[in-house]
Amino acid sequence: MCGIVGYIGAQNSVPVLINGLESLEYRGYDSAGVAVLSEGVINIRKTKGKVANLRDLLLEQPAAGNAGIGHTRWATHGAPSDENAHPHFSNDDKIAVVHNGIIENYQELKARLQEKGYVFHSDTDTETVAHLIDDFYKQGNDLLESVRKTLNVIEGSYALGVLCTDYPDQIIAARKESPLIVGIGKGENFIASDIPAILKYTKDAYILGDKEFALIKADEIKIYDIDGNEVHHDVYTYSWDVEAAQKNGYDHFMLKEIYEQPKVVSDNLARRFSEDGKHIELDGIKLGKAELENINQIYIVACGTAYYAGLVGKYLLERMVRIPVNAEVASEFRYKDPLIDEHTLVIVVSQSGETADTHSALKLAKAKGSRVLGVVNAVGSSIARDSDDVLYTLAGFEIAVASTKAFSAQVIAMYLITLHIAQELGTLDEKNFVEIKNALMKLPSQINDILTKAVPAIRGFVDKYIGSKNVFYVGRGLDYVVGMEGSLKLKEIAYLHSEPYAAGELKHGPIALIESATLVVGVVTQEALFDKTKSNLQEVKARGAKVLAIAMQGNTSIEEVADDVIYIPRTHWMLTSVLANIPQQLFAYYMALGLGEDIDKPRNLAKSVTVE
Ligand code: M6R
Repeated sequence: MCGIVGYIGAQNSVPVLINGLESLEYRGYDSAGVAVLSEGVINIRKTKGKVANLRDLLLEQPAAGNAGIGHTRWATHGAPSDENAHPHFSNDDKIAVVHNGIIENYQELKARLQEKGYVFHSDTDTETVAHLIDDFYKQGNDLLESVRKTLNVIEGSYALGVLCTDYPDQIIAARKESPLIVGIGKGENFIASDIPAILKYTKDAYILGDKEFALIKADEIKIYDIDGNEVHHDVYTYSWDVEAAQKNGYDHFMLKEIYEQPKVVSDNLARRFSEDGKHIELDGIKLGKAELENINQIYIVACGTAYYAGLVGKYLLERMVRIPVNAEVASEFRYKDPLIDEHTLVIVVSQSGETADTHSALKLAKAKGSRVLGVVNAVGSSIARDSDDVLYTLAGFEIAVASTKAFSAQVIAMYLITLHIAQELGTLDEKNFVEIKNALMKLPSQINDILTKAVPAIRGFVDKYIGSKNVFYVGRGLDYVVGMEGSLKLKEIAYLHSEPYAAGELKHGPIALIESATLVVGVVTQEALFDKTKSNLQEVKARGAKVLAIAMQGNTSIEEVADDVIYIPRTHWMLTSVLANIPQQLFAYYMALGLGEDIDKPRNLAKSVTVE
């Protein structure tokens, strides 16, 4: 949500800012703008709509300067409009500010500033920050101190970039709960919400900590805590290259990311086993037998797709470790005063590591004394930093808003965590472990198999079912969870109404909605539940529904009730979720493609949801 990029150095900042903003488009936004400083004047260009509109505006009204800040805004306070787009000026056009996050006490601050004579030109919370800095500045503080004092009065979350006409050689950046990094160049430096924005120029960065701010000049970077004490961070070098943030010949990032899954899964399995192959070894997790014996329940907390990966974990852990596991969406967990304590292990799952609800849930869990295990993709993100133990999901950049490869990586993490806990607590014997391990190792080539062979059939099913108005995803056990993820994908990118249901629950209400040609996607990979789900599919079929089934190779009797079947390669019951989800991803992708939707940037959605 919202993207920030900033530059100071010898180049004209405008192309750097525009390229950077384009690389951050995946985060979701509805307006864009830049502020550039030259010869004692800050010029702001901003507009509703895409970065391409901003490019056009800059052709009509050029701007240039060696220092600049840019922003893509995802509207929270006030509609998407030119006025509400960032950057925002202080009243005398001396200070310009870009901001991600939410200033929770902005109304109270705004009233105070208005009493002092400040005039507001937008509906945003951000404009308050520009005026506040200006107010402290006018009281005789220098710019850095004015920013620090401002940080001490604003409440909420922020990543900030600040420019001031009196300090043409510097940018100030600050962060609390919204991501911001300071990119390190040679004779030039950067700020960015995420590394793709500046990867063209540098892979080295400081990851700002919570409530830290930085003074950035072309040849110097200083970082301070909120009390003004200088702090020192190690340089973090990103291993990804520019290629990783490009489509590389694919029409969409989503498709590219779907096809990256064999590699992602294999990366996540590499070096996770001891040399003799008999144990799981998870770097970064210090949860041994003693710690685990102290735990009497597990909570898995996440949002959206990450939550569904967590649900896979719940089914597996309960079945294989026989320990009570609750899976909760973070936005509910955080406000329900959950029954957790120091004997609870809380597993938080997040691709971005910045999801506001998940991060707040983590903080609540820690405050109640629980141990937090983060399953995170983004290195150095807030959730990774604040977790007691971290298992990184090694999915690389995921740029499409609709999560695909990150889900597969999260599910693999759930497999590994389950195996680890089961082994430590002695609920899994060596024979079963080896059987599961062997099945795990086959997953990358099995995913590859689906990707190479299933596409023509899936495209055919899309042609057949593209007119559907309502789609149900049904299954039992792990298949039900996979259906939830399939349903979410279809909603997100094809804008099709779809609902996941536990197959056995249909007859308690939803079956009333089944009519001629309603599409029901039946996920039937759990062989122990096969006959039960098959009967439920028979029931919807009898009421006129069209049934598209996803089943394991060999279970051809599903053809008795299904109009069409997609077969996945045979695997251990525990591991079907990753395989069964691949055809669902492709189905949603080709549906959205057929319907002409904006696949990588679906309406109203953002890649990283940093507001409640
Ligand atoms: O970054 P996170 O994994 O914490 O994000 C959680 C959800 O916002 C995310 O999975 C969302 O549901 C995706 N758009 C799903 O495709």
